[in-house]
Amino acid sequence: MNIISQRVQEMNFSQTFVMSNKARELKAKGHDVISLTLGEPDFNVPTAIQEAAIDAIHKNFSKYSPVPGFLETREAVCKKLKRDNNLIYQPSQICISTGAKQAIFNVLAAITNPGDEIIIPTPYWVSYAEMIRLLGGIPISIHTTVESDFKISVSQLEDTITERTKAILYSSPCNPSGSFYTQQDLKEISDCLKKHPSVLVISDEIYEYLVYEDEPFSIAQIEGMQERTAVINGLSKGFAMTGWRLGYSACPEWLAKAVEMIQGQVTSGTNTVAQQAAITALHMSPNEPEIAEMKAAFNARRKLMYDLLQKIPGLQVSYPKSAFYFFPDVSAFFGKSFNNQVISSGDDFSMGLLENKFVGSVGGDSFGNTNCIRFSYATSENLIIEGMKRLSDFITELS
Ligand SMILES: Cc1ncc(COP(=O)(O)O)c(C=O)c1O
Repeated sequence: MNIISQRVQEMNFSQTFVMSNKARELKAKGHDVISLTLGEPDFNVPTAIQEAAIDAIHKNFSKYSPVPGFLETREAVCKKLKRDNNLIYQPSQICISTGAKQAIFNVLAAITNPGDEIIIPTPYWVSYAEMIRLLGGIPISIHTTVESDFKISVSQLEDTITERTKAILYSSPCNPSGSFYTQQDLKEISDCLKKHPSVLVISDEIYEYLVYEDEPFSIAQIEGMQERTAVINGLSKGFAMTGWRLGYSACPEWLAKAVEMIQGQVTSGTNTVAQQAAITALHMSPNEPEIAEMKAAFNARRKLMYDLLQKIPGLQVSYPKSAFYFFPDVSAFFGKSFNNQVISSGDDFSMGLLENKFVGSVGGDSFGNTNCIRFSYATSENLIIEGMKRLSDFITELS
């Protein structure tokens, strides 16, 4: 008898972690590995935030916090949402969580009954589909391609909504495609959603500070949408604080109560030191030098990597407007082989590239698009140049 639950038996390990572990293993064996796998800024946490954390330790912030977070931290989130997004929230609508990941899970757990459909524009962030399935829901993909800049159209959305649709969940800026829904795109999407008032929007804005060609925009800013949107954000990407595990949700009151109840039974309030430091982080605007410098560095790498990728024949690549990923289509190479290993999916391509040229990427299967692979450019320009050279060699040597 298998004691593991049916739902967990049907789960998959995060392909991002599988590939980064494999890259680490090869490195430990002495190979010169270039890992373009992980979605993690390679910068240090701004000094003022580090100092706020040390100060919090010295002040003995060592006891349980309230379940949804310290009032002061939630007030800082409200101020941030007003300053950056012109959104008014009360602290009672905010729940500080263990990363944006927990914030998303809380919201999904609060709304999903078995058999409920949650729409996820595809490619999607790896964990969305797994979380929905774990909760007994059904992830419903809307397929997109390089040609549409990996964005859904309103007619696709309209055709996908059914009476079982509970919510639409997306990231904009998007991991893995780097695409970004503009104010106009979101206006059109919300016009469609207004015909379906019972559908909730879960808007994952974790890469908000990494939008290069436009201003960040949240669907909650559109009239009538805030009361049916869960805004998800956090400090991992914009402040290089992935390991601090600090994210949050901003929800309508009815949903915030359910989110708090779930968090109270599962993890309680998140790390108190990180919460105290978050107050300093949230008071920093995206124009603060240490934040703006990270964005400028990512932008320079984006341009560099795009130039290099474009020169490789057969790759189809869109120029991402945000985040720190490229999601090139490698389907032109399906049927070709390397060392007698035939490539028939993005995952095969990604594995071949790692095993033969020691360049780590993530195959597109777990993002819902088997034709593509994901490269993260959260690494130095030199490694990007060398990684792209090896990619080009790999492709040239395919037979
Ligand atoms: C789109 C997206 N949402 C959420 C997360 C999770 O962020 P956190 O580190 O705050 O849990 C990630 C992390 O990679 C992400 O890419």
